[in-house]
Amino acid sequence: MKKNESPFKLAVLISGEGSNLQAIIDAIDAGELNASVEVVISNKASANGLNRAKQAGITAVVVAPVKGRTREEYDQCLLETLAPFTPDLIVLAGFMRILSADFVHAFADKIINIHPSLLPAYKGMDTHQRVLDAGEPYHGATVHFVTEKLDDGEIIIQSRIKIRPDDDAESLQKRVHVEEHVIYPRAIQWLTTRKQDLVN
Ligand code: GRF
Repeated sequence: MKKNESPFKLAVLISGEGSNLQAIIDAIDAGELNASVEVVISNKASANGLNRAKQAGITAVVVAPVKGRTREEYDQCLLETLAPFTPDLIVLAGFMRILSADFVHAFADKIINIHPSLLPAYKGMDTHQRVLDAGEPYHGATVHFVTEKLDDGEIIIQSRIKIRPDDDAESLQKRVHVEEHVIYPRAIQWLTTRKQDLVN
């Protein structure tokens, strides 16, 4: 990175284990990703990804949903939490909430997600079992831009694996995770280049 170039600022949203967050942190540490994670936000206080963030010296915040409040109210709170960090990109890494239209518009073209299937096939939950039940020959992971529609939006990168005869949902999940950890940092690195293109 040139001296006067500002870092490409990421805000990573999680709900659980945070292995994709870890892959992003590791890629930055390894010099493979020219970005900085400014903040990690979880909707769950129990998310292990919060520990991973703290371990890496990253600000970790819980924005817990409040009973009786609407999705829009939650997302407004999320926007207010994010604002001081002025992120260039919102990275959804296992964030198990659907974002409202207002939130998506506030960060138009600046929110990406990773989904464990070869989109547009197998949107939604339980992708590994559904792929097995359907007898598919291939499975994989997709990084895509986020729109108002669930698991929709322009595809940035996919990784495909061949399903083995002895695969079950658990083995598939593990193998897909390995692919996710490769393609998510790579996709973000591509987007840092896009930022430079826009500036120059
Ligand atoms: C990943 O499988 C991702 O595709 C899905 O949620 C999972 C998150 O895993 N959206 P982790 O918390 O990054 O380990």
